[in-house]
Amino acid sequence: MTENVPRRLLPLLGVRGGRSRVTCRFRCGDACYHEAPNTSSNPYFGDIYTAVLSRRGMLQAGAVSIGISALAVSEADPALAGPGHAHGHHGGPHPHPHSRLDFTPVRPNTDDTVTVPRNYAHRVVVRWGDPVVPGAPEFDFANQSAEAQEKQFGYNCDYVSFFPIDSRRALLWVNHEYTNENLMFAGYTDGSTADLEQIKISMAAHGGSVVEIERVGTTGEWRLVTKGRRPYNRRITATTPMKLTGPAAGHPLLRTAADPSGTRVLGMLNNCGGGITPWGTVLTAEENFNQYFVGGEGAPEETKPALRRYGIATSGDTRRGNRRFDRVDERFDLSKHPNEANRFGYIVEIDPFHPHEQPRKRTMLGRFKHEAATIRLTKDRRVAVYMGDDERFDYIYKFVSDKKYRPGSRRHNDTLLDSGTLYVARFTGNSPADQIDGSGRLPDDGAFDGTGEWIPLCDAQRSYVDGFTVAEVLIHTRLAADAVGATKMDRPEDIEASPATGKVYCALTNNSARRPDQVDEANPRAANKYGHILEITEHRNDSGATTFTWTVVLVCGNPEDPDTYYAGYDKSKVAAISSPDNIAFDKSGNLWIATDGQPGTLGVNDALHVMPVKGRHRGELKTFATVPVGAECCGPFITPDDKTVFIAPQHPGEDGTVENPTSTWPDGDFPRPSVVAIWHTRGKKVGSA
Ligand code: FEO
Ligand code: CA
Ligand code: CA
Repeated sequence: MTENVPRRLLPLLGVRGGRSRVTCRFRCGDACYHEAPNTSSNPYFGDIYTAVLSRRGMLQAGAVSIGISALAVSEADPALAGPGHAHGHHGGPHPHPHSRLDFTPVRPNTDDTVTVPRNYAHRVVVRWGDPVVPGAPEFDFANQSAEAQEKQFGYNCDYVSFFPIDSRRALLWVNHEYTNENLMFAGYTDGSTADLEQIKISMAAHGGSVVEIERVGTTGEWRLVTKGRRPYNRRITATTPMKLTGPAAGHPLLRTAADPSGTRVLGMLNNCGGGITPWGTVLTAEENFNQYFVGGEGAPEETKPALRRYGIATSGDTRRGNRRFDRVDERFDLSKHPNEANRFGYIVEIDPFHPHEQPRKRTMLGRFKHEAATIRLTKDRRVAVYMGDDERFDYIYKFVSDKKYRPGSRRHNDTLLDSGTLYVARFTGNSPADQIDGSGRLPDDGAFDGTGEWIPLCDAQRSYVDGFTVAEVLIHTRLAADAVGATKMDRPEDIEASPATGKVYCALTNNSARRPDQVDEANPRAANKYGHILEITEHRNDSGATTFTWTVVLVCGNPEDPDTYYAGYDKSKVAAISSPDNIAFDKSGNLWIATDGQPGTLGVNDALHVMPVKGRHRGELKTFATVPVGAECCGPFITPDDKTVFIAPQHPGEDGTVENPTSTWPDGDFPRPSVVAIWHTRGKKVGSA
């Protein structure tokens, strides 16, 4: 297995956090090239709440109730959800007892293709430009139009989820996070010179898609349905009408000239991570929405601190940028419509089985650069949603509903995410501060670990933050969390719960800006360019709890380097990994980890790795697949029968241009972000040899 480890580090790109400069420009609006927007005086070292250590019961917090957690998680699986949705064709509530990851690992590489293990096959299921809505035209790269793009599969696929209809048919939901105009349009320079039609095409290529897919025979292979009614197929874009719901809906901060009610908004932007609900809807997370707005210098002075806290420039020349949506719709100009930015940055709930129903932006879940929306039922069957805010030094959040989930009652379940309590996480290490020196060296107790607390910010009726109303907490969530001493994290990305144990895992992708004097035990490495993964165990394994214990299960990098840690596993037998981003579990409880940044940090293509997190192989990380040149590995989604992994190679060839492509995947001409299915050719569960 040592073949899985790159023994040389290739010359690295001039990037921060392992990401290409082009990704920075198009995806995040160069977020890492600006000061981190969190200028609060929150402590970096989280031991200010040592009282939590002595709380009764914390020592038992590691206790696991497998029955409850497995039930909770399996009910979060649409395959077992209510009427009209999925009908399980597989698995019950209990995870498979044996997890075999004996496949032959894929070698790290720089090949312009998807590489899968021996005995596996893959196919592109759907790619940018493919017709989605019946009647959509075939893709014509040289003659694109916004009208066509609104009916075709969008750009830069990110979160992928799968909703079975029956054993042979399913829906895929796919986020379209952002656009790479450098790869979409010949001769593109920036948004200020772009044709207005190009800008409209970009707006139509954002959002998400619902597409119907069908199984090939009884295998793990799935393909796009290209003929027939396909009643659920749907495109959501940057202009699709949607509702704002929850306690902040209608607040003056959400009202604009076009929407005096503060309850109706057009479009969603930069949807990155997501999750699925037990009642069969998708939650999709608006992330770097800040970059779509200009004119912050002309916004009212009193709005500027909050704009800055969300990374929106409020001085200088703000009218530069890649997209300039304001040139086709002035609501993106904050000097004219300063509240429009407050209407983005939410978790959006969409029912893939109700194509005519408007998406809902759930204000109760707060406003930030959302990543992940992973639901786990509490022991009393309320709904907990775990969420990250992907920015250097930003926070991890949890929402817990007031009401209980009712299987089969769609009308009731549609209200669950509109009232509850929003919390932010504070982590407290259990080792002396002088043993957390920023080098990655483990402290004397052998672990980066400790206790934590979910600090309430507000519920639907009350704010718990001085100086903030409920609506202000929900709209200016970052500022509210600053005020209660949340722990500044290394860019929280995806969060997922193990179906086998109920433990919750958070990918912290990297933070090369963390200085040695800013480390804490939960973010223990200075200049953390490779990232790490936290394991959270809720008190009594109940996602309704307000306290937890935690441990760092993986400190990423090259395993030959002393600052890496693979849960104590033999590092001569593991793969290198950098910049963990999207994660997923199979039914056995193996953690699948997709990366975004290996080209810049390890000199190899991004990948899908998999690692057991329980048993004697805990920490044995192996590489399952690699993605084409310049792509990050999005998805992943493992089907409920464990027979298929969907991945979404995003921005292949991102450093190129139309004239000089650096990738021609998947078709040999120009790069196209796509969703790929991977399956075992003999029908075994993914991960098998
Ligand atoms: Fe879009 Fe934080 O990744
Ligand atoms: Ca410790
Ligand atoms: Ca992500």
